[in-house]
Amino acid sequence: MPCHGSTRISPGLFSGAQDGPRNNAAATIDAVANRIPDRVAANCRKSPERMAWLEGLPAVVQELERRWGLTPDAPLSDEEPSCSYVEAVRRPDGIPAVLKISMPHMEQEHETDGLRFWNGDPTVRLLESDDNLRAMLLERCQPGTTLRVLDECEQDIVISGLLRRLWRPLPTLHRFRPLSALTEYWSNETLTEVARWPDDGLVREGLRVFKELPYTATRDVLLATDLHAGNVLRAEREPWLVIDPKPFVGDPAYDGTQHLFNCSARLQSHPDRTIRRLADLLDIECERLRLWTFARAAAEPREDWSNREWMDLARAIAP
Ligand SMILES: Nc1ncnc2c1ncn2[C@@H]1O[C@H](COP(=O)(O)OP(=O)(O)OP(=O)(O)O)[C@@H](O)[C@H]1O
Ligand SMILES: [Mg+2]
Repeated sequence: MPCHGSTRISPGLFSGAQDGPRNNAAATIDAVANRIPDRVAANCRKSPERMAWLEGLPAVVQELERRWGLTPDAPLSDEEPSCSYVEAVRRPDGIPAVLKISMPHMEQEHETDGLRFWNGDPTVRLLESDDNLRAMLLERCQPGTTLRVLDECEQDIVISGLLRRLWRPLPTLHRFRPLSALTEYWSNETLTEVARWPDDGLVREGLRVFKELPYTATRDVLLATDLHAGNVLRAEREPWLVIDPKPFVGDPAYDGTQHLFNCSARLQSHPDRTIRRLADLLDIECERLRLWTFARAAAEPREDWSNREWMDLARAIAP
């Protein structure tokens, strides 16, 4: 995914940012408004629930900075968020951290539970959290450069090493949702777009795979589901740490798909070879990685159904 520019939204969106005597509250509101990337604001305009989240954000940031004794730090220089507010901060002892507050977002719901489960191995550590506010204080990766700086073949090796460490079985009682909840959510969204499907047979075949594949897995582990080079950062404690997991429980073969989609040129020009290489590195069944990749290419919801890239890929690797 490209790094988007960030034109700023007006502080006037937030009540309390009017002209007048400046105080701490107004300063926080201005600072928060100035840090909201354009694409976060654009994502919020899609739903009233997210607009309400955006409007409440300055007060939430102010409350969390007070509660956790945080001081804003120099802005993070690398990629910007799309579904959250992210701010570099320092804890009272001067230790660098990152404050992340997520907008309402189905896939993100168990991010804090996932970070607690993985407990820093190989993710960033969760330092504080408030589940009601969808807020986390995270260990800061420094320098925090993304894995995108390496070429894709080297990325394959780092990503597969991290995924194999992330895939751990869960205790019988846990809070995570099954992977089938994600595929069902996506399938329902895709079904609302039936009039715009470019190839009815192919999309229906993708929906069929979404429905059946979760139930034929031979093992269930905790998945990151969104592990790609943009969510792997250079750190000091380890060479690379994982951020931004969207945990679901299910088939490890699914977890190879997001990195593949982020290597889109290679995936489209040499799908079989690219899928085979990653499956071998992950030590998973190549056929299952191919089927998951097919189902996502054919039937995952998308804004632009006229874009041929993913349908052409789906056709090339269809079962
Ligand atoms: N723990 C961290 N240490 C250093 N930088 C971080 C950390 N967490 C987030 N960032 C920075 O903030 C950016 C966005 O974070 P993150 O990916 O968690 O947000 P997001 O809104 O879920 O993003 P998206 O949905 O676009 O992947 C990262 O690309 C990184 O530059
Ligand atoms: Mg991310």
